[in-house]
Formats: sequence, structure tokens, C-alpha cells
Amino acid sequence: MATIEEVRKLAAERHAVILAHNYQRSEVQDAADYTGDSLELARRAAETDAETILFCGVYFMAETAAILNPGRTVLIPDPSAGCPMADMVTADDVRRLKAAHPGAIAVCYVNSTAEVKAECDICVTSGNAERVMASLSKGREKIFVPDRHLGSHIADRLGEKYILWPGYCPTHAMLTADKIARARREHPLAPVLVHPECSAETRLAADERLSTGGMCAYARNSTASDIVVGTETGILHRLMAENPGKRFWCVDERCVCPNMKKTTLENMKSALETMSPKVTVDPVVAARARRAIEAMLAVK
Ligand code: 13P
Ligand code: SF4
Repeated sequence: MATIEEVRKLAAERHAVILAHNYQRSEVQDAADYTGDSLELARRAAETDAETILFCGVYFMAETAAILNPGRTVLIPDPSAGCPMADMVTADDVRRLKAAHPGAIAVCYVNSTAEVKAECDICVTSGNAERVMASLSKGREKIFVPDRHLGSHIADRLGEKYILWPGYCPTHAMLTADKIARARREHPLAPVLVHPECSAETRLAADERLSTGGMCAYARNSTASDIVVGTETGILHRLMAENPGKRFWCVDERCVCPNMKKTTLENMKSALETMSPKVTVDPVVAARARRAIEAMLAVK
């Protein structure tokens, strides 16, 4: 059994910063230097001067940190922690879309592989997608991969139409409008927040559509004593820790991303002891993918 103290001590010895996504296990979040959404973690990764980054999240997130830090060591406690949505589109698919729509701007959700990012002009996260899409030229077609739900959500918000890829998140697909209706019956005064990876019907049934970081900010600023959240249950740990006077309820307690739960104190400790598994990206792919990520980070 590894402890938080052991992991922290090893991280200090290795001059490592520990970044954890909001969906990680509670003890992993407690062992981390920073917990955040994809955008917050990408920004942390871009700004860090630590020699090593121990990335507690899914593979594309650690890969983004590695792309932004070519000279540093990025470790992932379990490299099999993938994101099924990210694997729903390939670089070949994007090349074919670009060939079918010459002149279109190719946009990828950060939940994508390095090879897909390398084919795209710019990335978005759920925390900045509206701002980034609004910053792009109005007169050009836009390809949006892989999440059809985030893509259609932003297109609706901005009154635009995108060429959407039919990818989706299997974890958020569990959250249906019926489950939201049930949560409203149980907590009639509570606002309902859902992640934009949910289907259009589910998004419509909710009060707010927010990234995980957006949900944390909403909870901090809201006067509501009860809040219902429709996303992966790991976020409850941070919401409860930051808002001790408020109560949080899940739309569905089974909404768990199995890949996010692969990180444990044991494999974090082992990664720091052995300085492996390392996340590496082919330098040519990384250089092209970095352009798309940096274009996103430049949008204020
Ligand atoms: P956030 O950027 O909102 O944390 O979302 C990442 C993710 O994978 C949601 O499923
Ligand atoms: Fe991927 Fe969904 Fe898991 Fe997020 S919750 S990492 S989109 S499978």
C-alpha cells in the first residue's frame, strides 16, 4: 500500500510536479500539486519549470504535456489509460475530411491523439471551445473532430454549422434526459450542470453546460445549497472540498470513466521510483501538434 506522504516525498526528490484531472480518484487528487480540467492542466504543463511531470489523467492529456515540454520527462502511472473518444478518429480520417473540404479550418477537441492534433489547425478544450471557435474566421468552413456533442453544442451557441465527426464519450452517454428529470424530482431547488460531452437532449434538460473547471467555478460563485452534476463522479471530491457548506448530487453515480480510475497511489509511486512509463511523441508529429495546441493557448 502506497501513501500520499510517500508519493509526495518521492515527487520532491525527483523535482516532479504532479498534475491530476478532476476525474481522478480522491487520494490521487490529494497527492497532486494541481487538480484541474484539461485546459487548466495544459496551461500548468506549459508553464512548469519542474524537471518531471507526473501526469495523472488519460493518455492524451499526458501526451499534450509532453508535446508542450519537449525537454522534460513526462510520466504516466498507467499508459493503458486511454480515452475511447480520442481513439474514434484517426489522422487519416482528418486528412480525408480536409481533402473533401479544401479551405476548411480543421479543429480538434484536445481529447484526440497527437497524430490527429498534428493534422489540425487548432485545438479546443471544453473550457475554451466557444471562445476559440468564435475567434476563427467566419467565412471559412470548419471541421470539428472527434466529439459530435461538444461540436454541436458550440455550433448552436454561435449560430454556426460545422462538419462534425461522429465521436462521443461512452461515459457521458450514460447521462440521459430521463435521469436528469429524476434528479430534478429528488432535488427540485438544485441547479443541474452537465458536461458538453452529453447528448443534445441531455444538454437541453440541464440548466448549465460546463467543463469540469466551469462546474467548480459555478459551485464557488453560486448561492444554491444543493447542486446536481452530470459528469464523471470523480469531480465530487473537489466540489465538496472547495465548498464545505454545499451539497452535491450526481445525475448518475455509475457515471465513472474506467480509464481515469486506472491511476492509483501504487502506480504513481512506482512511476516516480522507476521514472517510467515515460510519454514520448515522435518529434515531427509533436512539432506539428504543438502548433495546434499553442494556437489554442494563445486565444485569451
Ligand atoms: P474537461 O476539460 O471539462 O475536464 O473534460 C475532459 C474530459 O475528458 C471530459 O470527459
Ligand atoms: Fe474520454 Fe469520456 Fe473518459 Fe473523458 S470521461 S477521458 S472523454 S472516455
